[in-house]
Amino acid sequence: MDTRVLLVKHPIDESNFDEVGKALASGSVVAFPTETVYGLGASALLPDSVREIFRLKGRPADNPLIVHLLSDEDLEGVVSSVPDVFHVLYEAFSPGPLTYVMPRGERIPDEVTAGLDTVAVRFPSQPAARALLAAANVPVVAPSANVSGRPSPTRAHHVVDDFSGRIPWIVDDGPCDVGLESTVIDLTRQPIRILRPGVVTAEAIFEKTGIEAVFWKDIDQDGEVVRPVSPGMKYRHYAPRAAVRVVLPEEGVALSDRLLEMIEGSGTSVGLFISEACRDALRSKADKLPSAPHVYTYEGTSDLSRASHHLFDAMRTLDEQGVDIIYAEGFEGEDAVAYMDRLSHAAAAKEDADVRQVLFVCHGNTCRSPMAEALFNDRYRDKGWEAISAGLSTFPGWPVSEHTVEVLREFGIDGEGMTSKPVNRQMLNDVSLVITMTTMQREWLRCAAPALKDKIISMADVSERSHDIADPFGETIVSYRRVRDELNEIMQDLYLYLQELDLT
Ligand code: TXA
Ligand code: MG
Repeated sequence: MDTRVLLVKHPIDESNFDEVGKALASGSVVAFPTETVYGLGASALLPDSVREIFRLKGRPADNPLIVHLLSDEDLEGVVSSVPDVFHVLYEAFSPGPLTYVMPRGERIPDEVTAGLDTVAVRFPSQPAARALLAAANVPVVAPSANVSGRPSPTRAHHVVDDFSGRIPWIVDDGPCDVGLESTVIDLTRQPIRILRPGVVTAEAIFEKTGIEAVFWKDIDQDGEVVRPVSPGMKYRHYAPRAAVRVVLPEEGVALSDRLLEMIEGSGTSVGLFISEACRDALRSKADKLPSAPHVYTYEGTSDLSRASHHLFDAMRTLDEQGVDIIYAEGFEGEDAVAYMDRLSHAAAAKEDADVRQVLFVCHGNTCRSPMAEALFNDRYRDKGWEAISAGLSTFPGWPVSEHTVEVLREFGIDGEGMTSKPVNRQMLNDVSLVITMTTMQREWLRCAAPALKDKIISMADVSERSHDIADPFGETIVSYRRVRDELNEIMQDLYLYLQELDLT
């Protein structure tokens, strides 16, 4: 099949979209730009075309699609009722990168929603997307225009790479503004829930509308974390072929110095995704580099929006250069949740074969957390897991307490020589799960690293019979034995918990 490319000229003349719009409405697949990522479009009213989208992407049939509309006037028949909050949110955020899940209307076939009784709708703001929707004059389903498992496309040539010769039309309007997929929000429940993080954050929603939205992972039902309600969340995404490691800034240490440290130890072909300013800083220390890394930079100094805009292109470009490992700049704070979500998906996809780490955290890292570390490693180290430990308020290099060593020895475990380490952001970032001894410590860490809060739990969250572990510091060996036995009992539940963890 020949793929025709419509190169968009500015200012946009809608009549240039007549032919491609008609093709879309009558069943052709058309890839087109949106403000977030490129979409693979088909008429939502034609079940065969919708099925074709699933086939082209290699997408699991139980992962529903988003319906794209021009405005709220087109909702008739697409949704069966409109929740009150919708109007407020629509005023504040649409057109734009926010997707609403609402009760499904009678015009939408099963193929679109994977049989769910809800449908996701979004109103893109990108001018070429709007011109195409106007010309087609039908609701348009559009998943991201990548083969499943590849990073989402943010440039027309990414779509060409994945679909050239397989689809009849690509609309090319250059790079996408935002670079990360839309926020998906479920309006069918109270409080409304964010199913997929995007640039429209819960904070932005609250600030602009006073409406509170929760992240689905934060919802507890009888103490259990509710499993993904957005089917897409359970699949692997955004996975380049190279392994991906996130490098976070550390107080008082320049990112370039952290990178130097990591590159020195890696010994493979390295790719970097950093700002120009960081690259310049690295260049000035180039004599310390073992070999020249492949570098993808974005303009200027460290900046979350610019990094988001370039993220998927960087992953694809560095992948093409054949690097084995990509070090990518991480960001902190609520605004960075979507960016860090995409990066951690990319990182998780390649970690399967590696040993996964858990981090135990207590106050001083001399009693409870080193005990947990030693007990865990004694049992599970040869099962693909490794524990490390650190303290919230400690100095590096203090030996663990004598009683700790003693009660471990009673279990045949050698704790001699273990020393304390203060917890830092890189540790929190690198491990699969962080487990604090108390719920207070958990809250403290979640506040300190909000972007990572989903993987920070406390001992009390592990199972129904688990609980906070009190500090035995300064007490007799009897208290240390009690703590050891309590920890030992929870270890088994923790291992079960890890087995169930969705790490992709
Ligand atoms: O930015 C975007 O949203 C892009 C552009 C092209 O619009 N589209 C996109 O689509 O990212 P896709 O198919 O890659 O992701 C759609 C997400 C999936 O996680 C899917 O599970 C979820 O939306 N979704 C769709 N319908 C849903 C529904 N009825 N209930 C819950 N989640 C739904
Ligand atoms: Mg996608």
